[in-house]
Amino acid sequence: MSKLVTPFGFESTTSDVLRGVDLSGKTALVTGANSGIGHETARALASVGAAVVVAARGDRAGSDAAAQIAVSTGNPHVSHILLDLADLESVACAAAGWSGPLHILVNNAGIMAVPELTRSAQGHELQFATNYLGHFALTAGLRTALAAAGRARIVSLSSSAHLHSPVVFGDLDFRFRPYDPLQAYAESKTAAVMLAVEATRRWSADGICANAVNPGAIATGLQKYTGGLKTPAERRKSLEQGAATPVFLAASPLAEGIGGRYFEDVNEADTRTESPGMFGTGVADYALEPRYAELLWEVSAEMVAAVKHSRANVT
Ligand SMILES: NC(=O)c1ccc[n+]([C@@H]2O[C@H](COP(=O)([O-])OP(=O)(O)OC[C@H]3O[C@@H](n4cnc5c(N)ncnc54)[C@H](OP(=O)(O)O)[C@@H]3O)[C@@H](O)[C@H]2O)c1
Repeated sequence: MSKLVTPFGFESTTSDVLRGVDLSGKTALVTGANSGIGHETARALASVGAAVVVAARGDRAGSDAAAQIAVSTGNPHVSHILLDLADLESVACAAAGWSGPLHILVNNAGIMAVPELTRSAQGHELQFATNYLGHFALTAGLRTALAAAGRARIVSLSSSAHLHSPVVFGDLDFRFRPYDPLQAYAESKTAAVMLAVEATRRWSADGICANAVNPGAIATGLQKYTGGLKTPAERRKSLEQGAATPVFLAASPLAEGIGGRYFEDVNEADTRTESPGMFGTGVADYALEPRYAELLWEVSAEMVAAVKHSRANVT
């Protein structure tokens, strides 16, 4: 399988990768689209005609963002839904409320380095729950809508932080080891890559392709617990550059039929078998390993099913 090389790079913006693209008649759902990279991703997709649904955990934040995007792009087909990824009940509700085909799903929302061990509504470690498990449940819940689109694309926001750790299957929720904020972030971002690998393996027969991205280093609210962005100035990106890789995978004809891969700077990344250290690039081999991806999917499906069973037992 040859690596996808594109005419784009570090400096490319959402406008560059969307030149000549028309998404009229397509529907896109972007999580965390009320701020940062998600907001720019939603704006860019709407700017070329997609009907865009902003998913946000705050009703006001979602409606304000949708209104802002509609005004700035002149596209009236921008709406919002409520979605709290840290609560699997909220995720189930959002998925159940969806109707019609879904052509583009951007699993973008995220949190980083929550300082103290915090648990989600269902008791999972909060970064694993928000960055990965909620998106897993959302993606699985939207499978029929994605299949109905014919050639749907899923984009999973990862990070170079994934290079710091594989998923620790024996203790996904930090019950048996001391909590480490950046370790938990790294694991959640490895899981995000694995979601793309396994969704593609399971669903490519339905025309569904999923890829993972590292958007690069962009100063956003994400760094609120780490004292701001630490990346050297020359390695930082604007929002338009940061959203270029997710938008490319969501919409570019050059990414048609591509799945189960990891991209950065709008190109497929090199695979690493050793940690490249701080501010490194590339994708870790463990993140792309199909056996691990399949196992994580199965474990995650059990976690989501446990919530359904407990709901069924409530009379
Ligand atoms: N910025 C970077 O340098 C960088 C680098 C690598 C990867 N990434 C990844 O890029 C993605 C976007 O990050 P960003 O930089 O744009 O950060 P951001 O501006 O902080 O945006 C994060 C978004 O996620 C939402 N969110 C957080 N918890 C949620 C929950 N429980 N349910 C629903 N939505 C929730 C936030 O909503 P609220 O407004 O309600 O909090 C916000 O809209 C993340 O997955 C991040 O890990 C970013």
